[in-house]
Amino acid sequence: MNFITLTLFLVYQVHALSFPENFKFGFATASYQIEGGWNASGKGPNIWDWYTHTYPTRIADLTNGDIACDSYHKFATDVKLLKNIKADFYRFSISWARIFPNGQTNNINPDGVRYYNELINLLLANNIKPVVIIYHWDLPLGLHQLGGWPNIALADYFVDYADKVFSLFGDRVKTWITFNEPSQICELGYSNGALAPGYTQLGIGNYMCGRTLLIAHAKAYRLYEKKYKQLQKGLVGMTVHTVWFEPAAEISVIRIVSYFFS
Ligand SMILES: *[C@@H]1O[C@H](CO)[C@@H](O)[C@H](O)[C@H]1NC(C)=O
Repeated sequence: MNFITLTLFLVYQVHALSFPENFKFGFATASYQIEGGWNASGKGPNIWDWYTHTYPTRIADLTNGDIACDSYHKFATDVKLLKNIKADFYRFSISWARIFPNGQTNNINPDGVRYYNELINLLLANNIKPVVIIYHWDLPLGLHQLGGWPNIALADYFVDYADKVFSLFGDRVKTWITFNEPSQICELGYSNGALAPGYTQLGIGNYMCGRTLLIAHAKAYRLYEKKYKQLQKGLVGMTVHTVWFEPAAEISVIRIVSYFFS
């Protein structure tokens, strides 16, 4: 390899490994997975509290999210860690039952509102952009008892909840995610039963759930567009779980390619 080739090679390598100037680095969590404080200061139970307490053996090591990372109490330390690692944004989810203990918006828990206000304000004070997921798998138990996501009525309960969340925090939050991984919510929750609420209604529950989530997302999106967008100027989207498949060995790629060209 001569000098010019080597230089070009290195430039290529460095270029391939570097990120564009405007690339944003961030970190993501979910309320049930980190907050703990499962029954703190007026929070209502959700399907994960119920599921892990009712069927503890369904969790391989018998643990649950009662305390988790205790981010309910330690969020200031978390923000410090994010700052130290130079995060541009932090993606977290709101625990529906922390703000609305039984899921319905006529019963608000002031401590839940305080918690997310303090978190959002601290992030912004540290120049970290909040990216907020409105629903990440922890349905209030009260709504589960009305049938959970397979019940189409939940679309409107979700829209009520999203409306309140936009009005409470939308002056500071400009990136919203309605649902984290809708397909996982429905497939794992209602079809193969691997996640709360753990039902196995394959071919029925998952489709009914999917219908509710898509309608809930669309209605919440339109509500934001109509009622908040002009003033708050935020974006609303959805996080879609994606997978890809790779061959077990490179030889398979060659076989596939040679198949197509033979
Ligand atoms: C919260 O749950 C814990 C067990 O995880 C229990 O010891 C405590 O008494 C509960 N607190 C309230 C306020 O219900």
